[in-house]
Amino acid sequence: MTAAARLRANAPLAAGVHARVATPRRYVMCRPDHFEVAYAINPWMDPAAPVDRARALAQWEILRAVLEEHGHTVETVPGAPGLPDMVFAANSGIVIGGHALSARFAHPERAAEGPAFHAWFAARELRSLAVASETNEGEGDFAFAGSRILAGAGFRCSLSAHAEVERYFDLPVVSLELVDPRFYHLDTALTVLDDTTVAYYPPAFSPAARDTLAALYPDAIRADENDAVRFGLNAVSDGHHVFLDRGATNLIAAVGARGFTPVPVDMSELRKGGGGVKCCVLELHTRRDTTAA
Ligand code: ARG
Repeated sequence: MTAAARLRANAPLAAGVHARVATPRRYVMCRPDHFEVAYAINPWMDPAAPVDRARALAQWEILRAVLEEHGHTVETVPGAPGLPDMVFAANSGIVIGGHALSARFAHPERAAEGPAFHAWFAARELRSLAVASETNEGEGDFAFAGSRILAGAGFRCSLSAHAEVERYFDLPVVSLELVDPRFYHLDTALTVLDDTTVAYYPPAFSPAARDTLAALYPDAIRADENDAVRFGLNAVSDGHHVFLDRGATNLIAAVGARGFTPVPVDMSELRKGGGGVKCCVLELHTRRDTTAA
């Protein structure tokens, strides 16, 4: 099947399940040429545990190939020596409709990634580009969901970062407090499958955030703890295919039951850095709610 045919194809649907439609996406990734666990800034990182970089590279290459096979464009940013977490390109910034806000990292260990990613953005044709003035790790904590941006707070960014993003993109930002240090970025605890469907792990959120999510997304998929610790929610969706860790078995079944097509991948080596599929992929979003690019 050609990539274009695959994009058009929809799995046979059970009665009452919506048809899911893939749209071609533009993604940015950074090869893990310099990946290692040299410090610990989240509970998953253990500098004493060995990392097999060749294996990390192989898993990353498969992810890139799988995204391309499904009709998507993947651009790559060169990594840099001494920046072992730069593979997690989702943290580089937020890009919606040609407007880009590049990141300001929370930890000094990752601070130099900000200017490195910013230089890559600056070489592109964008409608606007600015560096966040508040601490902001890009799509790690900000998930574009069509008519709004869902935003995590508590570990890596604050409500003032949410306010800055709301002003910059002129889109409502919904603040969600994260409470479990294992799920320190929003994208470890919640994934946007399409503009009206999300999946999340409720215990990662404060009671108020759970209420907000239940009100906004009454039909959301609720992931279980195994799905969450396997970083199944650290997923990428094109509206039909959902690229996610193969160990998130119940979530894989749940997205399939909703008419999406799960595409399981193995990200076990990169998980040692505290990241999965989504962390490795920044999306250059088009605005779907307006006629703007
Ligand atoms: N080691 C990195 C950190 O703690 C992992 C970042 C994962 N990225 C993400 N989008 N959740 O900052």
